[in-house]
Amino acid sequence: MAPYPVDLERWRRAARISAEAREVGAAAAVPGARRQDVAEAVERYIRSKGAEPAFPTNLSRNVEAAHFTPPPEDEALLVEGDVLKVDVGAHIDGAIADTAVTVEVGGGGRHTNLLRAARDAVEAAIAQVRAGVEVDELSQAIESAIHARGLKPVGNLSGHSIQPYLLHAGKSIPNVSGVSTDVLEEGEVIAIEPFATNGDGAIENGPYGHIQRFRRDPGPSDPVLQRLFERFRTLPFTARWVDPADRPALAKARKSLQTYPVFLESGGGLVSQAEHTVLVTADGVEVLTRSPT
Ligand code: CO
Repeated sequence: MAPYPVDLERWRRAARISAEAREVGAAAAVPGARRQDVAEAVERYIRSKGAEPAFPTNLSRNVEAAHFTPPPEDEALLVEGDVLKVDVGAHIDGAIADTAVTVEVGGGGRHTNLLRAARDAVEAAIAQVRAGVEVDELSQAIESAIHARGLKPVGNLSGHSIQPYLLHAGKSIPNVSGVSTDVLEEGEVIAIEPFATNGDGAIENGPYGHIQRFRRDPGPSDPVLQRLFERFRTLPFTARWVDPADRPALAKARKSLQTYPVFLESGGGLVSQAEHTVLVTADGVEVLTRSPT
């Protein structure tokens, strides 16, 4: 048995705020909306509730599977028919929740099967969760739910366990079967995040995006970097959150920073994602990021 998180109420609160912020983002994702405004609406909501974003709002579109967040100069508008992943996280003093929904911008119904595949898959996996179950049972459930809709799971993206201040804490929840030999333990917090595609079922690294994190303390030589490290520590952040006057320092600090590439579907397929953060309990599961409505 893994220890339950200390102060479980704090985890529940961070998760509820994440779920509400996910809905704020989904509702703001209308044709003609600036992508940047959608991201900022999500992050403003999280902060207004007394939490902090655990990572920059991911608004990956179409063949982008993950890790796109708008840069400060981004003027791109959402377009009718875009398959938009709204992947958000909030934390309260390191108690993190991570959740995602995919919307078709404008709601025209062209991508309903793709959206449902990811949603079916996350629900099928949640239905398997309880202490002592093999992670591979979740992976099998994900894979068959997506295959049932004539699509492929993205095999090289996985869900993950979560620990205080650690979004990807070590245990993976693969979206394909036959990979994991782990067993779920009572008290664990895990994010389950299937991705479905009509492409190859794999992602590859695209260009470097706009999500960064400090690999280590940059040291005292640059006071701007020192201040930014004190603020973000090793959690992911983005230039939108940094004062314009401080941004040039980041450009010069490549060695102490990790920059995440955008993940693109390798066959050029469209990608959908659904994600919930859950608590593994003795006899089942508590879905921490379930929609409040
Ligand atoms: Co996640």
